[in-house]
Amino acid sequence: MKKILFAAAEAVPFIKTGGLADVAGSLPFAFDPAEHDVRVMLPAYTCIPAPWREAMRDLTHFYVWFNGKERYLGVRELTHRGLHFYFIDNEDYFGGPAPYTDYMYDIEKFCFFSFAVLAVLPHIDFRPDIIHCHDWHTGLIPPYLATQFRYDPFFAGMRTVFTIHNLKFQGICGRDELRCISGLPGELFAQGPLCSGSCGNMMQGALHYADAVTTVSQTYAQEICTPEYGEGLHFFFAERRDRFSGIVNGIDDAVFDPAKDPSLKRHYDVSHVKSGKAANKAALQKELGLDADPDAFLLGIVSRLTDQKGMDLVLPLLEKLTSGPCQLIVLGTGERHYEDSFRLMAGARPNRMAVMTTYDEPLSHRIYAGIDAFLMPSRFEPCGLSQLIALRYGALPIVRATGGLKDTVRSLDKAGAAATGFMFEDYDVGGLNWAIDLAMRTFYDDRKTWEKMRRNAMREDFSWSRSAEEYSKLYDKVLK
Ligand code: ADP
Ligand code: GLC
Repeated sequence: MKKILFAAAEAVPFIKTGGLADVAGSLPFAFDPAEHDVRVMLPAYTCIPAPWREAMRDLTHFYVWFNGKERYLGVRELTHRGLHFYFIDNEDYFGGPAPYTDYMYDIEKFCFFSFAVLAVLPHIDFRPDIIHCHDWHTGLIPPYLATQFRYDPFFAGMRTVFTIHNLKFQGICGRDELRCISGLPGELFAQGPLCSGSCGNMMQGALHYADAVTTVSQTYAQEICTPEYGEGLHFFFAERRDRFSGIVNGIDDAVFDPAKDPSLKRHYDVSHVKSGKAANKAALQKELGLDADPDAFLLGIVSRLTDQKGMDLVLPLLEKLTSGPCQLIVLGTGERHYEDSFRLMAGARPNRMAVMTTYDEPLSHRIYAGIDAFLMPSRFEPCGLSQLIALRYGALPIVRATGGLKDTVRSLDKAGAAATGFMFEDYDVGGLNWAIDLAMRTFYDDRKTWEKMRRNAMREDFSWSRSAEEYSKLYDKVLK
């Protein structure tokens, strides 16, 4: 029996701002329970919805010395679908309206979280063989384990795996600030594992000390070995390929299932995709005030509205995407100028375009079910879950050939009868425009191919089981 503790800043169904939450809240369920005891540790944010907070029970609490003060450190627990979820409690750090608030305070709170994950272990009757850390928020767990906690026999032989979900965010601040906040030994900061020049870097600490490092698709694993995608750390990945691999994400096929999804007006499976999607399209057009037009080419975006997601390529095409036969739906939050530009266009053409700058999970499911095609022209994409959800709901993705998008979508121009979407190579408006035109031509002039692609898409297997097996093998390797 392998005992694995996932440590992450977010996980569904408790708290979600993006794909990290989907992974941390669904992958743990995919392991064979006869061989794995997987548990999850998260911050006990006060913004976790009340019903979940009320379901938590207090396990223990004590005080620790951290960043110059004595701090409360509590552990709460609940069991969800048969798995244990632990929550690190400290309202000074994890209070507030959202998980991430102020940049510098986020650095401090996740230094505390990294420290707390280890500090509570001797008190909760669960000694993991491996701590599987996710993203920069947990980046200091491996360095703490290798230094401060190393001499406590409780931690002897404990291993760490670190998964990069997005290299863009590394937890970078001043070197001296990180040294003071974390309390980690000074030698780690003298041009060492935790810093480059005058910058302290939490993720770099994990890359240095973790027993294995992974990222969430094979193509992204190759891309980040290059200066273009490596965010200043490409040398690390290029040098240490032996300790570094890409394991593609999956989705929870019980949650994202158009045949059972409680958010949908009409359920459908692959044998009823035509009528099912037509009914959901009509309901969506009505719900969002778009022209009730079954022949419109209905495109959708469900995304953080940031440069990563290629929104700067979409803006110059807004005119086209909201005129002629096209309708566009955008559900997303993010950079102000994107939100404003989308709102402005939707205000001018309310019957052709709908924009919701909110976070709305049930609506997102209705969008995936109702749209014909899903736009995701990312500049870079470690894996991407949205295109996997779109495929499962028979919405054909229009994507750029990068990261996980390249590994999970098969483009019509290359894959022919096996295609599931449309893909362009270079990051420019012309490329996206070409892919949209190809999609439109197929939709209107080659309906047979379109229907075939929809069926291909819905039949793809993106369940977690294959990835969970790969992680399990990696755990075995790390424990040897
Ligand atoms: P990232 O984690 O980089 O944001 P992913 O594609 O991995 O991108 O995951 C995004 C997840 O967040 C998907 O489950 C997507 O449906 C969801 N999502 C993004 N924005 C919204 C929103 N405004 N409302 C509801 N769900 C959203
Ligand atoms: C990150 C990435 C996204 C990935 C998700 C889950 O947020 O941007 O590509 O799917 O993490 O791994």
